[in-house]
Amino acid sequence: MPELAYVNGNIMPIQDATIPIEDRGYQFGDAVYEYITSFNKRPFLLDEHLARLKRSMTELSFPLVDMDTIRSAVLEIFDKGGYDNGDVYIQISRGVAPRDHAFPESNEIQFIMTVRETKRYSDEMHANGIKVITVEDQRWGRCDIKTVQLLYNALAKQKALDSGAYDAVFVGPDNVVREGTSSNLFIIVDQTLITHPLTPNILPGITRACLLQICRERSIPFQERFFDTNELYAADEAFLSGTTTEVLPLIEIDGHPIGQGGIGAISKKLLAALRNKM
Ligand code: PDD
Repeated sequence: MPELAYVNGNIMPIQDATIPIEDRGYQFGDAVYEYITSFNKRPFLLDEHLARLKRSMTELSFPLVDMDTIRSAVLEIFDKGGYDNGDVYIQISRGVAPRDHAFPESNEIQFIMTVRETKRYSDEMHANGIKVITVEDQRWGRCDIKTVQLLYNALAKQKALDSGAYDAVFVGPDNVVREGTSSNLFIIVDQTLITHPLTPNILPGITRACLLQICRERSIPFQERFFDTNELYAADEAFLSGTTTEVLPLIEIDGHPIGQGGIGAISKKLLAALRNKM
């Protein structure tokens, strides 16, 4: 199967795709993105991802973009890729212009995508869980916008790997636990799911919303509220959620064991329910 790229309307093998060096995404991180997965050739929660993409562009005062064009292009690259289970990465930058902090006068965004076979976490990782560390959240104050400014996320992920853990979880002032480097975070205490409320400090995850919807449908109690590291360490279960992560159990946080080791009963139920929706 070909790994393909889309650059402003043209589809080609990934290795043949190029973008101008004065793309503002490249020079200023002035770009937004989405990551969408498909199951049995059906993109999962496509409309939700496109709505978030539109919101990201609106929040950053990007030129107006026709979302129907974007939608058709996403479907086209999924189709041309031909994968049963494929992942599409979308990136839209404010455009190409001589380097200047001020927005360019031209209204031409740059729209690129790639499609590849889905890389899922192994069944073993879903069953056995992962270890994470917490790190101070030093990202900017608008983490609700899905921008490509992911340097601090990358540093935190690498710090986790270097310390023998698999990922990192961002912690804000007063030890408030926010989210993972590329995922949202849930804990379960006394059968109740708890996750950080939607504020500018976390990404409004599509998987997060889908899991809360599952809770409503199945009358699983949940709370969107702040919680600190003490509550995190003492949780009965904890997991990361995301498009690629699905429901990934945490078995150790900063050296504190969580649950009985391995996926907990409620996390397991939620993973199955999520996959059932795909
Ligand atoms: N990341 N929080 C952050 C910081 C993220 O980067 C992501 C997703 C999520 C989960 O969002 P969703 O459920 O919509 O995938 C939460 C993508 C997958 C990435 O950067 O590759």
